Amino acid sequence: MNILVTGGAGFIGSHLCDYLISKGKYVSVIDDLSTGFFENIVHLQGDSKFQYINDTILNKDRMDSLIRQCDAVVHLAAAVGVKYVIENPLSSIETNICGTEIALKLANKYKKKILIASTSEVYGKHMHAPLKEDDNLIYGPPSTMRWSYAASKLVDEFTALAYHRTKKLNVGIFRCFNTIGPRQTGLYGMVVPRFIQQALRDEPITVFGDGRQTRTFTYVGDVVESICWLMECEEAIGEVVNIGGTEEISISELAERIKSLVVSKSEIVYIPYEQAYGKDFEDMMRRVPSSEKLNSLIGFVPQTPLDTILESTIEYFRSMI
Ligand SMILES: NC(=O)c1ccc[n+]([C@@H]2O[C@H](COP(=O)([O-])OP(=O)(O)OC[C@H]3O[C@@H](n4cnc5c(N)ncnc54)[C@H](O)[C@@H]3O)[C@@H](O)[C@H]2O)c1
Repeated sequence: MNILVTGGAGFIGSHLCDYLISKGKYVSVIDDLSTGFFENIVHLQGDSKFQYINDTILNKDRMDSLIRQCDAVVHLAAAVGVKYVIENPLSSIETNICGTEIALKLANKYKKKILIASTSEVYGKHMHAPLKEDDNLIYGPPSTMRWSYAASKLVDEFTALAYHRTKKLNVGIFRCFNTIGPRQTGLYGMVVPRFIQQALRDEPITVFGDGRQTRTFTYVGDVVESICWLMECEEAIGEVVNIGGTEEISISELAERIKSLVVSKSEIVYIPYEQAYGKDFEDMMRRVPSSEKLNSLIGFVPQTPLDTILESTIEYFRSMI
């Protein structure tokens, strides 16, 4: 079986490639390295089951040939990260909407199975927990650019579901909640790698806002396993499914936890959102997934404890020093 992983040189994508190759699958990756890194997949080069193409998913001819040749697609390529999306608003929308449309159109043309990565950001400004797949979605105004990420991924979800309803396309959608682990970069606003790198350097750990906002964090290995189970699951076709951890923690507690695990001398400092992101930002105060649907479909939910994930991620960043 040959799987095309778009965005396969990225954080989640490169772990997915490792997993698929370890299970004997053939893997093709298309990635333009806009936020991904060749180093994430360099160890797979030379494996006869692996090929990497450095190109954009917006290249329709390239995508046509790759999707024609594969058996299934996992579509991860996207503009990711609040900071990145705020700094690159137009190209982010183009990648997330046009890129996904190209992938879906070609999957439909060649009748290939496709899984689309969405995000917990689509839920918007909810305060209740846990978030269920059929909850209403609450956004701020379009002048606040941070919502363009959520809105673009929501358009992807609508387009995928429309292909399923009208063309019977074999498509599934998974909404990832904050996923963490080795290889995640702190360059685009991701909180855990940023805190770990600051703690390892004994620099101030910078919490944006008052730190009372809460999140859950999911181990990338659990996400990859969930994606692979969903690929095999007939009942997941035409469905939207959360993939997320359930251990809720505030961002100020997270900073304390990382400081203590690193045994760092860093002080924890609080920076107003406007200073960190400019006026285009508004935060979500709480984001906790319901894993009920995932569990009922694949009998698996992400369960790796937060400390275990943080320890392995800290080890990874230590090894990079
Ligand atoms: N990491 C998380 O916490 C998280 C949470 C929710 C959703 N997701 C979703 O999971 C997917 C993967 O995210 P990630 O965390 O691995 O991010 P990532 O930035 O590491 O991976 C995205 C990859 O896509 C590539 N890419 C971007 N635009 C491209 C284009 N036009 N053509 C080809 N390649 C392109 C990037 O170079 C990168 O390697 C994304 O769709 C993202 O929206 C991730």
